[in-house]
Amino acid sequence: MEYTLATEENIDGILELQAKNLVTNLNDDEKEDGFVTTPFSIDQIRDLIELQGVFIALDDKKVVSYVMCASWQYWIQWPMFEYMASFLDTLEYKGKKLTFENSYQYGPICIDKEYRGTGLFKDIFEFARKEMNKRYPILVTFINKINKRSYEAHVRKLGLEVITEFEFNNNNFYELVYDTSKAVAQ
Ligand SMILES: CC(C)(COP(=O)(O)OP(=O)(O)OC[C@H]1O[C@@H](n2cnc3c(N)ncnc32)[C@H](O)[C@@H]1OP(=O)(O)O)[C@@H](O)C(=O)NCCC(=O)NCCS
Repeated sequence: MEYTLATEENIDGILELQAKNLVTNLNDDEKEDGFVTTPFSIDQIRDLIELQGVFIALDDKKVVSYVMCASWQYWIQWPMFEYMASFLDTLEYKGKKLTFENSYQYGPICIDKEYRGTGLFKDIFEFARKEMNKRYPILVTFINKINKRSYEAHVRKLGLEVITEFEFNNNNFYELVYDTSKAVAQ
């Protein structure tokens, strides 16, 4: 497995994986194994690739996982992130207020079905965490309360901490944080 930053040539593979996991394309049974909420257009992926925020796993050149990480300035083009950013400075982690400077938003993360439960999850998280630690000390993310697989994976297995809960567009979310200087337990 190769872990790397995405380039233009990976965009089709990323879009294919996104289409298979986008909440609006799945039925209730399929959602049990997790889903991604934020739809990316080609241009949005291209912009994020330029910002060095698209982390991928390649198996024989096929994109089998991606993780998007970016500044709040990038994310606020989506209303939900604009909302999250609006109360960021009301939250404290390890005695520090969260700001646009000390935190970034991690996710969506997506792993092809065949590769779930294989350990790839921890490996790609670690790859992205180490890179983002060079830029920010605190990771912030959200998980829809009905995405139990993602909650188990991130909270029980990786140790992300719930910092608050919020509602947006009739969905209920956990908001979580993680110290990017900390390696996850293997
Ligand atoms: C979320 C995701 C990244 C996690 O990666 P993964 O390889 O599936 O994670 P793992 O299998 O290592 O861990 C998931 C854990 O949840 C458990 N689990 C699976 N389905 C579950 C469910 N419906 N309810 C509760 N726990 C569940 C698994 O048994 C596993 O625990 P275990 O290793 O102790 O058995 C991956 O499933 C994925 O890409 N899903 C689709 C997109 C998605 O949901 N992205 C996250 C958006 S916030």
